[in-house]
Amino acid sequence: MSEKPTMHTPKDPTTTQAWARLQEHKQEVFNNKHLLKAWFSQDPNRTARFSFKVNDLLFDLSKNLMTPTTVELLCDLAREMGIESRRDAMFAGEHLNTTENRAVLHTALRRPADQAGKLLVDGQDVVADVREVLQRMYRFAEDVRAGRWCGVTGKRIKTVVSIGIGGSDLGPFMMYEALKSYADVGIQCRFVSNIDPTDLAEKTADLDPQTTLFIVVSKTFTTLETLTNARCAKTWLLDELRKAGVIAQDDAPANAVSAASAATATAPATFPTAADAIEHHFVAVSTNLELVREFGINPDNAFGFWDWVGGRYSVDSAVGLALIIAFGPERFEELLRGFYAMDQHFLNTPLQQNVPVLMGLLNIWYVNFFGMGSHAVLPYDQHLHRFPAYLQQLTMESNGKSVRWDGTSVTTQTGELFWGEPGTNGQHAFYQLIHQGTRKIPCDFIAFANPVHPTQDTLQDVHELLLGNFLAQTKALAFGKTPDEVRAEGTAEWMVAARVFEGDRPTTSIFGEKLTPFALGELVSLYEHITFVEGSIWDINSYDQWGVELGKQLAHEITPAFHDDTALKQQDQSTQSLIMFYREKRRH
Ligand code: F6P
Repeated sequence: MSEKPTMHTPKDPTTTQAWARLQEHKQEVFNNKHLLKAWFSQDPNRTARFSFKVNDLLFDLSKNLMTPTTVELLCDLAREMGIESRRDAMFAGEHLNTTENRAVLHTALRRPADQAGKLLVDGQDVVADVREVLQRMYRFAEDVRAGRWCGVTGKRIKTVVSIGIGGSDLGPFMMYEALKSYADVGIQCRFVSNIDPTDLAEKTADLDPQTTLFIVVSKTFTTLETLTNARCAKTWLLDELRKAGVIAQDDAPANAVSAASAATATAPATFPTAADAIEHHFVAVSTNLELVREFGINPDNAFGFWDWVGGRYSVDSAVGLALIIAFGPERFEELLRGFYAMDQHFLNTPLQQNVPVLMGLLNIWYVNFFGMGSHAVLPYDQHLHRFPAYLQQLTMESNGKSVRWDGTSVTTQTGELFWGEPGTNGQHAFYQLIHQGTRKIPCDFIAFANPVHPTQDTLQDVHELLLGNFLAQTKALAFGKTPDEVRAEGTAEWMVAARVFEGDRPTTSIFGEKLTPFALGELVSLYEHITFVEGSIWDINSYDQWGVELGKQLAHEITPAFHDDTALKQQDQSTQSLIMFYREKRRH
């Protein structure tokens, strides 16, 4: 696309009135120490004022560095930047992804079919399209779950290996780990993403090819890592089936559906063909069904989605197929309902009580007014151990931008480094820096009142140890420990400073009843909308990712230099030296 699209006039948030007032407000209020301690003692309603119940989740924002005036001014900033009309434009399918000229409509993936009115995008009823693909996925998943879809030798599928990377991996992998306890028919899933050959080798090492189903997930179906892993998986499957005497030794892999059909027509009755094997053991998820066919997967066994679903916003599309196989269509519908419930909160709640809006604005407050560039997400739930990694792509690929949607330069910092680990593991690793380091790091704590593990009844007391730690950490970060409190413990004077906790380290607590599919849908939708809010204030395009392209292009140019001297000479001196080291050391 070469023509510049028409959108709102780009706006520099630092030129708004609210920005100037926020700067003054920061000077006036935020230079003192022990602010949170003071605010909590002055205002017995502080927690009630800044706590919000959204469906089944409680959000306690009261331990953030804000007063009611801060919230008012941040909401003024949001209004001046036109956040409400931008939000409505996104939900209506306007082409907010300007550089790719695409709608940004992941919210359509969870819109119930019975909601009044069609959602037409570029003349197409997108909700009808979504429901049609969902129904096909549900039928397919039920067939696999019930043993009606079997491997080439008629054995039931026991393991699903989902091959994808980035948005085609992080979401389904994170959700599979999060919802593992809901797997109900004994089918386990594994996820292969890295082009490092050890990833696929280790994930398939103990598998029986006759009971393994591969799902190749790639929006574009051009991604080097995914297609390489899919080819290697195909080779592994056919080699193993040959070794087991299932397919003929001399049967070559099929590369196209036409070849597969021809092979089926002439196949000897005794052996299934390689094409039969691929037909039974490979399905695909992609927007590019033509390339799926070229790869050798029957498009009848492919599940589509659309260019208006960004990769990192796609977990609730066909990209989640492995989840439906593991947990069943009903659980997936529950997940979609959770997404939708948070969408509705975001869409219909006034800014001052709108949790994704407030959390997004607080991030702006911390990044742009306090210079805090990093954000920890700390789930007190082992099943959410991949959630921070998932959020890294969602937030950092979306908002790691230096220019606005129209190509003009931003004048503030954008994006945050998202990271984290489940509590309490993190407490024994990096929390020292969060408590006493020179940087302040806003943290989101996520916890649930009940564990989902089946042994929950006997382990509630252990769970309470976990929850006690969650609450202790947010309290310590907010209120700290003064020198006098340290002295009162009998600490020698020279050690007092080392034992002081200054407090005023901002945290948000997200507390739920239990990690259900519904709650997980709400959480993911929450962070999608937080990301949107931040991107709207910075006026950037949160939906493209040109920053990943140069590395891909250079890898393509550099790889031949491992063997080719002409390609080697074209490299810079550092790259040449590293390649020479490789040439000396390689074993084969
Ligand atoms: O890393 C860039 C990226 O394009 C991501 O945005 C995307 O999620 C990932 O690669 C995988 O892309 P695909 O689904 O097309 O294989």
